[in-house]
Amino acid sequence: MLRLLTTVVLTAILATANFNAQQKIELAVDVSKPGEKINRNIFGQFAEHLGHGIYEGVWVGPDSKIPNTRGIRNDVVNALRAIKIPNVRWPGGCFADEYHWRKGVGQTRAVTLNSNWGGVTESNSFGTHEFMDFLDQIGSEAYLSVNVGSGTPQEAAEWLEYLTTPQATTLQKERAANGHPAPYKIPYLGIGNESWDCGGNMTPDYYVSQLKIYSRFVRNFNPAQQGNNQMLKIAVGPGGDEPRFAEWTEAVMKAWQNRQWSWDMNGLSMHNYTVVRWPPAFKSTGFGESEYAQILKSTLEMDGLINKWSAIMDKYDPQKKIALVVDEWGAWYAPLPGSNPGFLVQQNSQRDAILAALNLNIFARHADRVRMANIAQMINVLQSMIMTDKEKMVLTPTYYVYKMYLPFQDATFVPVTFNAGSYTQGQITLPRVDAIAAKDTAGKLWLEMTNVDPNQPAEIEVTLTGITPKSAAGETLTAPRVDSVNTFDAPNAIMPKSIAAKVQGGKLILKLEPKSVTVVSVEK
Ligand code: AHR
Repeated sequence: MLRLLTTVVLTAILATANFNAQQKIELAVDVSKPGEKINRNIFGQFAEHLGHGIYEGVWVGPDSKIPNTRGIRNDVVNALRAIKIPNVRWPGGCFADEYHWRKGVGQTRAVTLNSNWGGVTESNSFGTHEFMDFLDQIGSEAYLSVNVGSGTPQEAAEWLEYLTTPQATTLQKERAANGHPAPYKIPYLGIGNESWDCGGNMTPDYYVSQLKIYSRFVRNFNPAQQGNNQMLKIAVGPGGDEPRFAEWTEAVMKAWQNRQWSWDMNGLSMHNYTVVRWPPAFKSTGFGESEYAQILKSTLEMDGLINKWSAIMDKYDPQKKIALVVDEWGAWYAPLPGSNPGFLVQQNSQRDAILAALNLNIFARHADRVRMANIAQMINVLQSMIMTDKEKMVLTPTYYVYKMYLPFQDATFVPVTFNAGSYTQGQITLPRVDAIAAKDTAGKLWLEMTNVDPNQPAEIEVTLTGITPKSAAGETLTAPRVDSVNTFDAPNAIMPKSIAAKVQGGKLILKLEPKSVTVVSVEK
């Protein structure tokens, strides 16, 4: 009897769960109420001298058998060009606070040590000119991180003079002799990196003094970057969710509010990795639904952190002149077995595609404050776009998310209201569906919808105000399992495929596959 009762109750619970999962998700998109611009800079990348992020990932040298242009691999350039990367943060990371630019210019390069990342030698073959050439080849812009930890204001000031002056100074002549007579454009300058930890373990006050000095003396002389086109300076901001980071954020923002004419800043950096706990222990491949749910729960904390730092910034900068720059974010898992632990090598699964979409949507919803972000890291390190192994290259699910989100670059945010439903795994309940909408620069409406539920499809019904849809079509990215990956042997296992919505009674109707990211445009 007891067994029968238990079976009946369990069946009822499962039926309810299934009913909830099957419930239609209704989205309401109001095109008549456009919001902020989604700054294309939120699709920025981070490329550090770390493991095979630069060496082998980007730089193979001009004598390599791997097809390259002036030492930079062609396959990687072609893949990156296609996702229109707006900016690349370089040379670090922790590496930046030990980087001395002079060792990376000229015919003879000093061999140094990369003491942060694996203690390996650094050939300095990829230096300033190679980085700028790489940007040119992929069609991107420089976000340079200057060395505050072990460098001097003079060293950083001379780097910027070397890069940007058109006048016939000794440094300009040296730049010209090294192959680039015209001044380079440096639109973004990071003043230090994690100065509260690997960047010198500074107190907030000490850092603020450094910030003022670097902001004052590290100048950009490029005539094209004066007035409205000035180089934007980004100060070190908070890391995790500890009280010391609130103190840090207060100190930097308060100093900025009370600033004198002699210095300024335009952005405050924020770092937040999805890691759950340190040291990173979650596997990047060969995991199950429990780890899927735990990681996604953790990644959604990005929103709360942005709210927290924005609230402090609002106190000192209600006009939102200072951008919150999330210049390190992404999933940080345990190193792949057999890899150098200092190289931060991990696989990239369908879970990471979902994670990327959820974070990009959070940034888009905070478009008024979050105007730049850099996923860590571009190639072969952490949540990368691309993985390489000698001459082989594979594009990750995260790469395809960036490709699908291209229409959102500089698009105008359009509000979407919806009841997300819920997806439960063990003790964890998450919103089942996430969505954003935006009008691109040509006025076309785009919708992104993520189905977090790895088991059930999501039936979506979209009501549009201010536009009568004729059709909607686009692409969807899903995979057989949450831990499915693209490998060198099966590089096309996960790729976007076409999807179309039905139009019924003026509404868009579509079904999102389990664990999928979908982007469609609406034709009117
Ligand atoms: O991205 C790897 C490292 O993480 C960066 O060098 C550092 O800034 C952060 O702690």
